Amino acid sequence: MTEKDFLPTPYQHFSDKGKVTWKAPSNIALVKYWGKLADQVPANPSISFTLDACATTTTVSYQKKESNTEGFSFDLLFEGKPKADFKPKINTFFGRIEAYVPFLKEYHFTIETSNSFPHSSGIASSASGMAALSLCLMEIEKQLSPEMDDGFFKKKASFLARLGSGSACRSIEGDLIQWGEHPHISNSSNLFGIKYPFEVNPVFNKYHNTILLVHKGQKQVSSSVGHDLMHGHPYAQNRFQQAYDNLDKLKSIFADGDLENFIKIVESEALTLHAMMMTSMPYFILMKPDTLEIINKIWKYRNESKVPICFTLDAGANVHVLYPESIKEKAIQFIQDELVVHCEKGHYICDRIGVGAKKIMGKK
Ligand code: PMV
Repeated sequence: MTEKDFLPTPYQHFSDKGKVTWKAPSNIALVKYWGKLADQVPANPSISFTLDACATTTTVSYQKKESNTEGFSFDLLFEGKPKADFKPKINTFFGRIEAYVPFLKEYHFTIETSNSFPHSSGIASSASGMAALSLCLMEIEKQLSPEMDDGFFKKKASFLARLGSGSACRSIEGDLIQWGEHPHISNSSNLFGIKYPFEVNPVFNKYHNTILLVHKGQKQVSSSVGHDLMHGHPYAQNRFQQAYDNLDKLKSIFADGDLENFIKIVESEALTLHAMMMTSMPYFILMKPDTLEIINKIWKYRNESKVPICFTLDAGANVHVLYPESIKEKAIQFIQDELVVHCEKGHYICDRIGVGAKKIMGKK
């Protein structure tokens, strides 16, 4: 598929007003996306677990504009209150996607959005937020073009979400989502995420992700700046190749339920992501002393107990602890006994692999 396949055919139905609501989850990458080309095309393919508890719910009300004003017209409410500082991001997003959803200039929108996780938790809401907003826009498009099938609906929602925030394209469906062209993964695309097409052992079915909130403040360097620093980065080409290779290696790891090698790839990916930050020019560090304390404790515990618990990191100081359902009790005990002391105010979030976004019916 190419971008052109997402241009709509003329709309058949016009409604003057309406209201739609979608809830979209966050996701945690196992093979990381870090570095991009124009139009949010990733420099390497990535794969993620879709999460369940960490999610954004967005309601979009739309009303036909009375006069044909130039530009986009929308109000934005975050957790019930107007949020002026989110507006430029939405405006840029609307500008990028207008050709694909040309009804954007026909309506005035009221966008009401809220997160299931606390605002200042250091958890980025851009993936779940852009996914939920894209799904709402697709829901409106579906009302204008009712013959649209479900497969196309999700693909285009992922395509739009990607233009808002790259990793958001992996937050539409569950439970394991791959994004970015890979020569050995048929139907993989730079334009949208796909459900992982190969065999996955049931050990991954109910995987847990406990997010240890090490640092809840705003991070010093945004991911868009970080992505940009991969241009001209001395290790970029090797890093991109490594991501392709790791996706190849994961094929048999997922099929066999090989947790030992799963852990090696996932932890190496997390540390490589941060190594890229530390070796950019300018360089930066997003980990905190407590991030390293937690990592060392996980390694020690795993060595001694042989319990297959591991970590991954996002572009921040928080630690995502990953473990299978079968060792849930042991993992929670270990987290409470040893790791919670490293969390800001002792806070952490218990999440797990999820099935993807949901339409919320009849929210009037
Ligand atoms: O979607 P962005 O532009 O915020 O980039 C996200 C990058 C990482 O979260 C660090 C990795 C990933 O693949 O999600």
